[in-house]
Amino acid sequence: MDRQHQLPGHVNVDQFNQMLMAPESFAAKPESLTEQLFIDRSLTENRFWLRIMKEHALFLGEGFNRNDKHLIQQTDRFFHYFEQQEKKAYQIVHNVELVRKLNEESIELTLGFRNFKRNLLILIINCKISGFNFPLLVDHIAREAEYFMRTLKKFNKGILDPIQDAIINENVFWLRIMMEHSRFISALLDQSERNLVNTARKFGDDFETLLNQARDVESMLYKKQPTYPIIGKMNKDSENAAEEILAFKKTGLELIKSCQITNVINPLLGDHVVREAEHFLYMIHVLEERLQTKKQNEQQL
Ligand SMILES: [Fe+2]
Ligand SMILES: [Fe+2]
Repeated sequence: MDRQHQLPGHVNVDQFNQMLMAPESFAAKPESLTEQLFIDRSLTENRFWLRIMKEHALFLGEGFNRNDKHLIQQTDRFFHYFEQQEKKAYQIVHNVELVRKLNEESIELTLGFRNFKRNLLILIINCKISGFNFPLLVDHIAREAEYFMRTLKKFNKGILDPIQDAIINENVFWLRIMMEHSRFISALLDQSERNLVNTARKFGDDFETLLNQARDVESMLYKKQPTYPIIGKMNKDSENAAEEILAFKKTGLELIKSCQITNVINPLLGDHVVREAEHFLYMIHVLEERLQTKKQNEQQL
């Protein structure tokens, strides 16, 4: 049968055929990393995340039942390994091969810790062990380990995701992290701190809205033709929200340190979530800069 006769009169055949192509084929291609950028970005991520992983080991250790000596020992060991690796990341000579090797070691060490966290989570939700490590918190820190590994693996391949996909991925990851921090904070504050508990909950809901919006954008535009106004706006909205939660966390940390509020938050955990919000903002700025350069280059073409 002749297919042309099935088309309505106002649709031209070429247009019709183009509409049948995979929309993924119109996506931007991954970009390559320059050597300098490879070194700088690798060291920044290692220095940031290795300290974060070390602290996760400490927090998990503090949350175990005191009889689970074996688990406490294992987290102590991870603390020590990550501390050593963190020192390496500060002392390393800025050379591509050495940095690639550092990345590989960090990936391997983090994979072990990621597995430990995920196995631990299964024990907790099957009521095999007790203690104060909330399941969602363990899942949260396992996701952070997976994110760190993913990032280093991409660096070692020498690629950067196209800017649109990078903005989508980073926002979907970090908005969830920020939403959960808000809720962890509201649960660890003493419930007599009514205003602060409510404010923290409100942050949780606001981040949930932004997260759902980012997931909608992911569903529509991930690995598709560049649509910069939409993703630029998403990044901007995240920037505003991240600045607000950062200010809230910083104020909270000061109140905790000076013992002005009732809570069971380890000040180091307070500082830990401040640094994670700062790192999200840092990522937002890196992406914003890449997006602006991209737009300028395209205007010049
Ligand atoms: Fe963390
Ligand atoms: Fe976190």
